[in-house]
Amino acid sequence: KGWITENLYLYQGFWHQSSRRISVETLMALQDTFKAHPTDIYLATLPKSGTTWLKALVFALVNRNLFKDNCLSTHPLLVSNPHNCLPFIETEIFRDTPTYTDPHSLRLFATHIPYTSLPQSILDSGCRIVYLCRNPKDVLVSMFHFANRLRDKLLGPLTFEETFTSFSKGVMPTGPYWDHVKGYHKVSLEQPENVLFLTYEDMKIHTASNVKRLAKFLGFPFSEDEEAEGAIQRIIRICSFENLSEANKHGNFREDIPNDAFFREGKVGDWTNHLTDEMSSILDEITKEKFHDLHISF
Ligand code: A3P
Repeated sequence: KGWITENLYLYQGFWHQSSRRISVETLMALQDTFKAHPTDIYLATLPKSGTTWLKALVFALVNRNLFKDNCLSTHPLLVSNPHNCLPFIETEIFRDTPTYTDPHSLRLFATHIPYTSLPQSILDSGCRIVYLCRNPKDVLVSMFHFANRLRDKLLGPLTFEETFTSFSKGVMPTGPYWDHVKGYHKVSLEQPENVLFLTYEDMKIHTASNVKRLAKFLGFPFSEDEEAEGAIQRIIRICSFENLSEANKHGNFREDIPNDAFFREGKVGDWTNHLTDEMSSILDEITKEKFHDLHISF
């Protein structure tokens, strides 16, 4: 039941949890059994990078027909956790594959699996992947709070210092952070038609243009009429932090994860309230060294 530092295994250069749902065995089994379709869409992230938001946006934009009757109170995103609308391949799908085998249906999946450990079938399929990256300092802070919501009484809470030390050594589920980001960033430059690289920070500032970009990349561009009648703004509104967190105030996503654990602050720069100057400089140094050949700004 530990989250972050306990029960992690190193596999193909990345740390993975060992739990009922996600494990190295699951990754190996996916490699053997998972069949990707060329029309699949995968949303790839490191935990705590904005996965829930991206899931909601993509679900809303490819299912625009759900807005037709203008009945928002029954929209799946407002009556259910976005994680129930768009499954992770390494957890839900692996246990539930038969539902998703229709080769003609559009399949939306999420994953935290590093690029180099993705099932070969995905890499060979020519499908589209959206990667959402977030400032490592905000990922660390978000992870610290999330971990402490999930840790059981036996393990006790993690201190921020422990979380920082582990994170900066690269030890976190599907970390090291920097290698995960670099893996997807590299392919986004080599195969821009297959991998779209976005940042949480840019999504926050330029939400509308990024939603438009996402829609075009995924093959669901907005028509002029749709734009004129406010379709983009409607999607942004329904997926806003305020709306989704309100809809997820109660209940559990799974027996061990309350719905509201996925919604905390939803802001850029909360790290300034947690990191000392020294911690901040250490992460800046690591990021500068690891990302010296990338152009990513947060
Ligand atoms: P904070 O802990 O900094 O608030 P993930 O979905 O990958 O688990 O990431 C969770 C982070 O995304 C949390 O960050 C959460 O508050 C934020 N988040 C969730 N929904 C969001 C939304 N609709 N808009 C912006 N941020 C959101």
